[in-house]
Amino acid sequence: MSKARVSGTWDEPVVFNYSAGPAMLPAPVMQRVQAELLDYAGSGLSIMETGHRTSGFGEIVERAERDLRVLYDVPEDYAVLFLQGGASLQFLMVAMNLARPGVPTAYVDTGYWSAKAIAAAREVRPVKVVASGAALHYRGVPQRSQWADFSTAAYLHYTPNETIHGIEFDYIPETDDVALVADMSSCILSRPLPIRRFGLIYAGAQKNLGPTGLALVIVRRDLAERAAAETPALLRYRDQIGAGSMLNTPPTFTWYVIGLVLAWVREQGGLEAMARRAAARSRIVYEAIDASGGFYRNAIDPAVRSRMNIPFQLHEERLEAKFLREAETAGLKQLAGHRAVGGVRASLYNAMPLAGAEALAGFMREFARHNG
Ligand SMILES: Cc1ncc(COP(=O)(O)O)c(C=O)c1O
Repeated sequence: MSKARVSGTWDEPVVFNYSAGPAMLPAPVMQRVQAELLDYAGSGLSIMETGHRTSGFGEIVERAERDLRVLYDVPEDYAVLFLQGGASLQFLMVAMNLARPGVPTAYVDTGYWSAKAIAAAREVRPVKVVASGAALHYRGVPQRSQWADFSTAAYLHYTPNETIHGIEFDYIPETDDVALVADMSSCILSRPLPIRRFGLIYAGAQKNLGPTGLALVIVRRDLAERAAAETPALLRYRDQIGAGSMLNTPPTFTWYVIGLVLAWVREQGGLEAMARRAAARSRIVYEAIDASGGFYRNAIDPAVRSRMNIPFQLHEERLEAKFLREAETAGLKQLAGHRAVGGVRASLYNAMPLAGAEALAGFMREFARHNG
């Protein structure tokens, strides 16, 4: 029998997808997409064939923004944008729009993705790294009290969840009057947030939001006015706000699926429900690691272990390929660690049912029993 997702409730047998992104999407969302693919809302057209300036697509855009605003209780003085170029283009747009002449920008380095953000920002603006997890071998988060002074910086950028290292901040940094900028690519929609603590939040879509092709940006409107004069219009938040994120043709299909995902999150009980599930899922897998007597290892400071991405190693490296092969055969897919660090990585985003965490933990125990 083929292993497939056959219902919104995951009938047996099933495949579980632990990809870090593009990642699995909620089964009910996928089923809705399938049902509507050839005929969207009785129009006789697919949404893929529908103009981005039609009233039909306009309703999708409005609903997506409304649902996002309800979920996070986004204040009116914050704009919501859906922009092309992924999270990586936001590395640049943040620096081009928020930096001020003659003033440094401040960054916290906690691993692979914050390093990427720093390198990209450095291409266009001066950057001061005010704290680094390097001394902790990127297994922990530098305590706020140990950061260098950044009180004169144009903004402070950090990465609340490091997708590759598997580190997640257990606090929101206090920055007083300095705008706080967060790359939430791998933890967006996973818990409620006090939006007012942030100047700007961005997230690539392809994990908790939908398929690839867009980045969500939530930006305080006054910050969107700061862009340096030479910033091209296409890369200016102010212009994108004015054009409803449509300075050019957007990836409409991605936007449509994001809208369905946002509606699904609301139906499921919102961000509190997502946070409860994330805690429950990740606890199951960390317990399987910690109870394995050293067969599996995750060296991250337990206080900042990620709820979304769980990297781990086997006590003998030679067993890793076997583990991944047998997991694949058992229907546990895309568990290979990022090429930069190797090992195994289980990503447990919002769409992952609790059964997916249990299936992985059960497989890990069995594998350890046979290979220990
Ligand atoms: C935390 C984080 N930031 C940025 C990115 C880059 O995203 P994109 O490929 O959309 O540019 C990723 C991708 O996995 C990520 O996990």
